[in-house]
Amino acid sequence: MEFVFNLVLVLHFVGLALLLGAFLVQIRDPEKTVTRWMWDGALTQLLTGLIMVGLIEGGALGDDEKGDLNHVKIGIKLLVVIVIAVLAFIGKRKPAPQVGLWATIGLLTLVNVIVAVFV
Ligand code: HEM
Repeated sequence: MEFVFNLVLVLHFVGLALLLGAFLVQIRDPEKTVTRWMWDGALTQLLTGLIMVGLIEGGALGDDEKGDLNHVKIGIKLLVVIVIAVLAFIGKRKPAPQVGLWATIGLLTLVNVIVAVFV
């Protein structure tokens, strides 16, 4: 089961790359906007995150140290990713530029990386 967990964790990093990549690649672009990659990334993070939580709560990792779930950390990340997903959904339907939404999604993604690492 640890193999499956690690596989989902790899997909979690792919989702992070989608979100952050879609933000960073536009930094010098005058028409900064919300792209569908951000929406795809947010959904990937939500789905893979929930699967990992399910695997951990289900005891799939046994006594492994990864098996200790930090509920505060997960709660914050869940809340933040829901906000990101809502903003991405709104933004991808609007015409470019969407600088405010683009910046907020990027900053919230960074917030979640910081929460994942420091909390
Ligand atoms: C933008 C959204 C997110 C980002 C940027 C993000 C980032 C990360 C990063 C960098 C890691 C690896 C470092 C670590 O092990 O702590 C990680 C692991 C993990 N993430 Fe996320 N995450 C996001 C959303 C979520 C959500 C919504 C959930 C659950 C509902 C979640 C659950 C997990 C779990 C279970 C792990 C495995 C290690 C642990 O227990 O912390 N993540 N995440």
